[in-house]
Amino acid sequence: MNTRLSVNINKVATIRNARGGNMPDLIQVAKDCERFGAQGITVHPRPDERHIRYQDVYDLKKIVTTEFNIEGYPSDRFMQLVLDIVPTQVTLVPDPPEALTSNAGWDTIRNKAFLTDIVGQLHAKGIRTSIFVNADPEMIVHAKETATDRVELYTESYAANYLKDREAAIRDFVLAAQEAERQQIGLNAGHDLSLVNLRYFQEHIPGLLEVSIGHALICDALYLGLQETIRQYLLQLQ
Ligand code: PXP
Repeated sequence: MNTRLSVNINKVATIRNARGGNMPDLIQVAKDCERFGAQGITVHPRPDERHIRYQDVYDLKKIVTTEFNIEGYPSDRFMQLVLDIVPTQVTLVPDPPEALTSNAGWDTIRNKAFLTDIVGQLHAKGIRTSIFVNADPEMIVHAKETATDRVELYTESYAANYLKDREAAIRDFVLAAQEAERQQIGLNAGHDLSLVNLRYFQEHIPGLLEVSIGHALICDALYLGLQETIRQYLLQLQ
């Protein structure tokens, strides 16, 4: 089974916003990611719109022909946006508005009622849901009770420990993936995945449906170009 690659284009918006114009053109980059073989486009609009703007999400909806994944904390404004846009998938992330980037998964026990309500609203519109969680089987058991279609494993700790001891780094992720399989819940992963650590992760995680990758992929594209970079990421996933 091939794992699908969804390119997170937040960083492209960050570069564009640095100068106030439209360079690089986010829409063209999304089209090119798809043309170069990416199977999805991911965005993570934040309340301050410091990278992806809400208008970008509307503009992208018109041109994305692969899987469109919108991540974020389900605030009222975020929910209004995604219920209006109806992307393929919404990934629910528990980060506070000021967070630099996502830095933890949901506590699916404490937030079960809230998440169940949100998942229900998204399902009513036919949107697939994914809940961002740490590699903790218990969080997956409780995520299942919200009726979510998938979970996304937060891979920061795997990436941080990969070079020190990759067998130890992946251990909890294998256990989490096995629990997801038992619960019959789909499995995505993301955060700090890169050309260095992606293949080992994909090879050891059963049933990995999708990875969303932004930071390292855009950094690699500075050296390799976007087309070659995407080709190399896709190769890791075969
Ligand atoms: N998944 C989630 C939920 C995220 O918030 C992010 C970062 O926006 C990613 C995946 C991608 O992480 P990275 O940019 O490190 O590849």
